[in-house]
Amino acid sequence: MLSQKVQEAINKQINNELSASYTYLAMSAYCEHENFAGCAKWLRLQSQEEYGHAMRLFDFLLARDGKIALRAISEPNIKFKSLTHVFETALEQEQSTTAEIDLIYELAHNEKAFAALVEMQWFITEQVEEEKTAREIVAKFHLTKDDPAAILDLDRELASRAPDKGGA
Ligand code: FEO
Repeated sequence: MLSQKVQEAINKQINNELSASYTYLAMSAYCEHENFAGCAKWLRLQSQEEYGHAMRLFDFLLARDGKIALRAISEPNIKFKSLTHVFETALEQEQSTTAEIDLIYELAHNEKAFAALVEMQWFITEQVEEEKTAREIVAKFHLTKDDPAAILDLDRELASRAPDKGGA
């Protein structure tokens, strides 16, 4: 049985992942509205991926006989200055997620919650990939230097993202 502290931390992270899903959805809506369908598609898929992360933790907590406590999801910011700003915000969000995951890993370690430790290991690996991808996209937007042709090329590139096979 997981300790109350670990259960609380996982419940909080379920909320964080759902909040991230909601934020990516807001970003997707902004891009769609600005007629950048490729960015919108990429962000919508990312929103689904974050939902998958939340559900992975949800299933883990139930499998360990834990108690789910769903909390309110705060309203995401919907005002962005540019596409670059959208992806810079995405990168910041991923960096915050990494810090949150690290804290849960540390807590699981201190509480000797070994199953949770293994579960959080998956998230640590995932965050390395998520941050790297976001950082690369931000770098590409910086390279476009607001050149419309370059931005449209990048939008086309982002449109090629395929849904994740693993569902998480
Ligand atoms: Fe669920 Fe983007 O981390």
